[in-house]
Amino acid sequence: MARKPLIAGNWKMHGVLVDACQLAAGLKAHCRGLDDRDVLVAPPFTVISEVSHILRDTAIILAGQNVCWEGKGAFTGEISPVMLRDAGASAALIGHSERRQLFGESDSLVNRRLKGALQFGLTAILCIGETLEEREANRTLDVLERQLRAGLADVGGAQMSSVVVAYEPVWAIGTGKTATSAQAQEAHAFIRHVLADLFEKDIADQVRIVYGGSVKPTNIDELMAQPDIDGALVGGAALDVESFGRIIHFAS
Ligand code: G3H
Repeated sequence: MARKPLIAGNWKMHGVLVDACQLAAGLKAHCRGLDDRDVLVAPPFTVISEVSHILRDTAIILAGQNVCWEGKGAFTGEISPVMLRDAGASAALIGHSERRQLFGESDSLVNRRLKGALQFGLTAILCIGETLEEREANRTLDVLERQLRAGLADVGGAQMSSVVVAYEPVWAIGTGKTATSAQAQEAHAFIRHVLADLFEKDIADQVRIVYGGSVKPTNIDELMAQPDIDGALVGGAALDVESFGRIIHFAS
């Protein structure tokens, strides 16, 4: 089965309401008539509702940049899947390297968040990736396998239609250093191989695996030409509507 490409923009902690509205309006114009690919944006929590209003008559998917595992309760500082849905989001990034590196999120916490997202009907975008130190020590595949198995622990094959895996080598995020298309393809093929072992080949073949790390208009076409790269998770370039527009319109 052909996998529908997914181009996702993570706005991280950038912009206030006026910037978000401007970006959303610009994005809407770029996405008109595009139905052979999915486009997703993950704005800061505080503007999701307003962005959802601007994008209400489009197919653009909205995501939170993280999500709690519980629907409600005494979890100061967290945003629940129910709240995300209420604000207009239908997906959530989980285990982004900035959460892992800067906020100490462990594999087991990532797994808890992922299961919570699925339980409340969100699409979970599980982010995994190795650091430069791990790559240089030839531990890339071990790290990816560990993060994947731990992140997907107790997840059933039937739930995998609501999971996207994002491969983001930490050394390529915000650094301008993109993995070569060959490096990215090697990692994506390995991820699919682990998914086939965890579930079954048919399921692994249906899971979208997107690449993140300094994706730009100049490298998107080559990345998307790789057989196991099904899309992109874009940070910096997603804040510029022209650049993101070009990335969305990658040559297929
Ligand atoms: O979530 C997006 C990634 O962290 C990639 O960010 O495109 O700025 O390297 P970047």
